[in-house]
Amino acid sequence: MATADTLRYTKIPLTHGSGAIPAVGFGTLISDPLATKQATTTALEVGFRHLDCAERYRNEDAVGDAMQAAFKAGTLRRDDVFVTTKLWNTNHRPERVKPALAASLRRLQLDYVDCYLIHTPFAFRPGDEQDPRDELGQVIYDRGVTLLETWQALERLVDDGRCKAIGLSDVTLEKVREIASAARIKPAVVEVESHPYLPEWSLLDFCRENGIVLLAFAPLGHGMSPKVLDDPVITSIARRVNKTPAQVVLAWAVQRGTAFLTTSTKPRYIQENFEISALPEDAMREIREGVTTNIRFNAVVGTGVPGFIPRAN
Ligand SMILES: NC(=O)c1ccc[n+]([C@@H]2O[C@H](COP(=O)([O-])OP(=O)(O)OC[C@H]3O[C@@H](n4cnc5c(N)ncnc54)[C@H](OP(=O)(O)O)[C@@H]3O)[C@@H](O)[C@H]2O)c1
Repeated sequence: MATADTLRYTKIPLTHGSGAIPAVGFGTLISDPLATKQATTTALEVGFRHLDCAERYRNEDAVGDAMQAAFKAGTLRRDDVFVTTKLWNTNHRPERVKPALAASLRRLQLDYVDCYLIHTPFAFRPGDEQDPRDELGQVIYDRGVTLLETWQALERLVDDGRCKAIGLSDVTLEKVREIASAARIKPAVVEVESHPYLPEWSLLDFCRENGIVLLAFAPLGHGMSPKVLDDPVITSIARRVNKTPAQVVLAWAVQRGTAFLTTSTKPRYIQENFEISALPEDAMREIREGVTTNIRFNAVVGTGVPGFIPRAN
């Protein structure tokens, strides 16, 4: 088991791709480009080595600027950073997949990404409108493409070397099973909402058995109510181990075998979220057995419509 001082440097092996994924990751779902660049710069400075991006966040260029500045300053090399980005719902048609990754790479100013995910299993009408709606305001889905066809297009990207590993996001266990059983290249990563109020133990068990990394987004519960960070089990452990509630929840995420993505624009929180240390085993057990609230904050898994895309304007 990792000792108190090494937990934050944990890497989880990947079944394919660039070896291993840093368990401690920084998410870039931030609406303002300047704030994105500043937060990403701070995250890299305090030690984060995994960045989670998406074409849907409309700020890959700002993340790219922050990385390039670090590369040019000589403080980081490209292969020090694990970069994930995602294919949006409007690009599921196989012929749109390669151009979509090429556009992400251009914005990120990179030759390859370490991981490319299908952002959600829901295909939307192909085109430049990321949120296509009919006159009643209903999402226009694309029934002309299956998730497996999109997956096979991602497999070809791995063959081309422009992304090292591929995976899924916002999927149920059934969908992961379906793709894993049909795929030539199995998913390496599955990114889903997960925190003590939504531990996803069955999905985690399946992932472990199949060599898939479960990458938890919203590990702090999206900052929404009921607040995971105010849960009495979490706050009492935090007092006992002399850490903040956020550090307790993030340490729990790594120690139970997941990777996580957390986000803040506040330097104080960014640093705090990196500086995690291992919890004693009784605290791990207490969180599993003592936290009784169960809630999903983000409905994206049911519709493909993101619950949390902040608008810049
Ligand atoms: N695949 C998907 O569909 C999907 C969906 C959602 C998110 N994601 C990814 O997951 C990343 C993380 O998601 P998230 O932002 O919801 O995660 P989160 O870390 O659970 O929540 C962030 C919220 O917690 C607050 N916070 C951060 N650090 C804190 C600390 N130490 N103490 C107290 N509060 C703290 C932030 O406040 P401040 O804003 O005040 O700092 C913010 O309101 C995203 O950036 C994105 O990369 C993926």
